[in-house]
Amino acid sequence: MCGIVGYIGQKEANGILIDGLKRMEYRGYDSAGIAVLDKGNIFSLKRVGKVAELARAQINFSYRGSIGIGHTRWATHGNVSECNAHPHLSTGGNFAIVHNGIVENYAQIKAFLIEKNYTFHSDTDTEVLVNLIDYHYQKAPCSYFAEIVRKTLLHIKGTYGIAVMSEIFANEIVIARKSSPLLIGLGEGENIIASDAAAVARYTKRVVYLNDGEVASVRSDNFLITTLHENTVDVVCHELDWEIHDMDLEGYPHYMLKEIFEQPSVIENAMRGRFTTDGCSTKFGGISLTPQELRAVDHLLFCACGSAYHACLEGKYLIEKYARIPVDVEHASEFRYRNAPFQRNTLVFVVSQSGETIDTLAALHEAKRRGYTVLGITNVVGSTIARATDAGIYQHAGLEMGVASTKAFASQITILSMLALLLARIRDMDTVVGVQYVQALKSLPVIIGEVLKLSNSIQLIAKKYHNYKRFLFLGRQAMYPVALEGALKLKEIAYVHAEAFPTAEMKHGPIALVSEGTVCLFIATQNELLDKTMNNIQEIKARGGKIIAIVNNNCIAREVCDEVLTIPEVHSGINPIVSIIPLQFFAYYVGILRGCDVDRPRNLAKSVTVE
Ligand code: AGP
Ligand code: GLU
Repeated sequence: MCGIVGYIGQKEANGILIDGLKRMEYRGYDSAGIAVLDKGNIFSLKRVGKVAELARAQINFSYRGSIGIGHTRWATHGNVSECNAHPHLSTGGNFAIVHNGIVENYAQIKAFLIEKNYTFHSDTDTEVLVNLIDYHYQKAPCSYFAEIVRKTLLHIKGTYGIAVMSEIFANEIVIARKSSPLLIGLGEGENIIASDAAAVARYTKRVVYLNDGEVASVRSDNFLITTLHENTVDVVCHELDWEIHDMDLEGYPHYMLKEIFEQPSVIENAMRGRFTTDGCSTKFGGISLTPQELRAVDHLLFCACGSAYHACLEGKYLIEKYARIPVDVEHASEFRYRNAPFQRNTLVFVVSQSGETIDTLAALHEAKRRGYTVLGITNVVGSTIARATDAGIYQHAGLEMGVASTKAFASQITILSMLALLLARIRDMDTVVGVQYVQALKSLPVIIGEVLKLSNSIQLIAKKYHNYKRFLFLGRQAMYPVALEGALKLKEIAYVHAEAFPTAEMKHGPIALVSEGTVCLFIATQNELLDKTMNNIQEIKARGGKIIAIVNNNCIAREVCDEVLTIPEVHSGINPIVSIIPLQFFAYYVGILRGCDVDRPRNLAKSVTVE
């Protein structure tokens, strides 16, 4: 959701603010704006729609300054309009603010401020924040900008990530966070504030993340962070592990296609340095538990949302198959309220690409509240979830710009497969089997490279079926989470109804959906189950359904299926990673053919930081 950017330094802020907002477009928004301090006065420019609209308007915006703030809005209070877009100025113009989040008690505050002769030009909750800051300044002028903001925030209920600038305090920007991420990008003689590291990565890789309840005064050559109650805080500087090319299309038409093709290197990065020297197991520097402690674990619980949830389901199949440890997987949004009965010796994992998903963060806090060790698998160094876990595993998948998860999902199931091997080797898996598993994992980048060559074949299949209205994805055992993820991709990218079922489950109701207009995609890459799956394919065929099958060998399938995609037969520990790729391509090409914005699908955000 939405984005914040701020600049204070020696350069002109305007272009840096616009560039930062562009780098955060993938998060989803409906309007955008900037404000700069020019010759002692704040001037703002706002537009509904894309950042490109704002950039075009900026050409004729004659105000320039070396301190400024910008925002991409995802409206919660007040419709989508230029007036409701941020930044918002206080009555009299002393202060300007950009805000991510919701001020839950804004109505009471607004009524109070109106009595104090403050005027409001927007319907947003945010405008009460900036007027309340002005109120506290007028009531007790003081020379500490951060102090005025702290006083204000003590009255606020709700969530916020804010950046505030002022005509009175012209050499600093004050920022604060509560449940909505904010960071400071540390430059030379300049500092860049943002809600997402993507906005600062081209200027600096050194970032300091704010924690909930912290307020910072940021100047061009220094910053000071305290708590809301003015306590000092320990500052930790993180080094981003992204490269600037992560943000460029590099000749691809869309980030989603680029990120699908990046998967060989992404999988390599997920595995780099994580095999044991004896060649028969894996290791994770981020897992702080000893082999004895891991051995004592007799139950695992995974919490996540969306694609990350599907990755956890895959982890369940692999860990239970190889390590023989019972695994539960919960939707984080459900777990946080469910008061689930815990089993003893439970190790909890939260999985989140962004490391900012508020439901997953809440599940993490719930598990910690109940005294359990919580490990994280995330893709963003220093993200809120990464910092809140007891320890964890970074995906090193690079910045995922496409809203729909592709390379991050593949990276997550690779890491979970490696975790299954680690746990299995601590228990009963013998050396020979371990060596075979490691060799299979190491072969992944080459095998994925082979599967990527199916791109054109899948594009042709997408052309034949992109106008169909109903798609069912079917997989058995470890292919069921792959089917779920394939269905989610098609929903997200092509806005078409798609559902996934365990293949044999079709007979228990869903087969009623099958008619001439139904396309069934079978992920049938387990030869030991192919005969059973062929029965299910025949049952669909007999009712007029179209069959697209992903198989290891097509001798049987080709006679019955309408379309057959053959992928290499591989070790069952890596089969899910290989099998998801054709489904990613299918969703991408159907989305393109249906004229969808595959990188920024409607209604979606890359990181869901609101409940
Ligand atoms: C995946 O394609 C979606 N964008 C969405 O389901 C996503 O996986 C979910 O919101 C979880 O995000 P996270 O991994 O950043 O926590
Ligand atoms: N609640 C504020 C508004 O509706 C901020 C929304 C956002 O996070 O973008 O303007």
